Amino acid sequence: MSRTMSSDHATSQILPTYKPKAPHFVRGEGCHLWDSEGKHWIDALAGIAVNGLGHNHPRLVAAIAKQAAEVLHVSNLYRHPAGEELAHKLCGLTHMDRVFFSNSGSEANECALKIARKAAWLHNQEHPNDMRGSHLVALKGGFHGRTLGSLSVTSTPRYREPFAPLLECLFVAPEDFAGLEEALSTHPAALILEPLQGEGGLISLSNEFLQGARELCNQHNVVLIHDEVQSGCGRTGTFLCAEAAGVQPDIVTLAKPLAGGLPMGATCVSEALGQILEPGDHGSTFGGGPLASCAALVFLDEYETGLAQNIAARGEQLTKGLDALVASSDLLKERRGRGLMQGLVIPGRAAEFEAKAFEAGLLVGTSAGDVLRLVPPYVLTAEDTDSILNHLKTVLTSMDTTS
Ligand SMILES: Cc1ncc(COP(=O)(O)O)c(C=O)c1O
Repeated sequence: MSRTMSSDHATSQILPTYKPKAPHFVRGEGCHLWDSEGKHWIDALAGIAVNGLGHNHPRLVAAIAKQAAEVLHVSNLYRHPAGEELAHKLCGLTHMDRVFFSNSGSEANECALKIARKAAWLHNQEHPNDMRGSHLVALKGGFHGRTLGSLSVTSTPRYREPFAPLLECLFVAPEDFAGLEEALSTHPAALILEPLQGEGGLISLSNEFLQGARELCNQHNVVLIHDEVQSGCGRTGTFLCAEAAGVQPDIVTLAKPLAGGLPMGATCVSEALGQILEPGDHGSTFGGGPLASCAALVFLDEYETGLAQNIAARGEQLTKGLDALVASSDLLKERRGRGLMQGLVIPGRAAEFEAKAFEAGLLVGTSAGDVLRLVPPYVLTAEDTDSILNHLKTVLTSMDTTS
């Protein structure tokens, strides 16, 4: 079937919230893509940290085709085994007790914020002399999504300003423990943070800060939400990034790679908060449907039967390779991140680097202006990793000579 596509995106009828580039990808295999002109691309961006199983994963494709031929969608008014099995598996992996399924990271965060707000509301009814506020606390540099609730806890002024007024939120700088204590002492409904800030420039919060935030939330009776939409589902070498700090939040949100490329968000909740939402309090027509759930079951099974080890091995290879690049060039200031969520700080020239990599057939992203972001598929091989590093080296050499 032929499809119409205007020659220029500016003339297409899609709202101009993105500026998509020209290649029209027609085929994929693992970390590799081919466009309609036959050009080969290596994918170190994975649809912005989504395609954990890479492109055209045979087991994923077969499971989706099978489920589509059985039932695609039934709504949440009827039980279906894939969703229940997935909730059970996710609770095991996140050490949580209940899950709400939605369709994106923003929606996963909306649900988390609503649970915290309702918990505060219930608390206030029972304890009128010890009131909790409905406001929220979040970190500067944090990104939690574009819907109005998740935007309210996202700090970037440019994203927020046109849409004010938003929910009330106090912002604290990462690692500012005194500032966090002051903000939490105002009795907010929740603290939300990313253990490794993706959009904010690949900033890892220290174990001490994550542990201290947990203690302060306990002291002040504040719900702690970890947004692991980008850092979770194994990307940093453990299923949850905050596992490395030994910190268990009250709620953790996941999305991106969870359903192998199909839209899915998950809000995973502790038992104590698992009963806060009742029928009618929240919902989603599509969330956790049979198709996305069966895809997520394949993703988790692959993760548990070899992918986790591959992430560790490739993460180490990538870390060593990027460290060597940083050591070899004055253009690169620093490597950040861990596992398969890595950044290279290129002051003032990250966008130029990304554009040159693109010309050379390597897909990477940028973050916070100065950081080149690599979030490749989890299925990348040792050869793919070498190929990504070689492309980066070539671009770097060309830029070193033009600086
Ligand atoms: C940490 C984090 N939270 C939330 C979101 C929003 O997810 P979505 O775009 O699926 O709504 C993102 C997206 O990049 C993210 O990186």
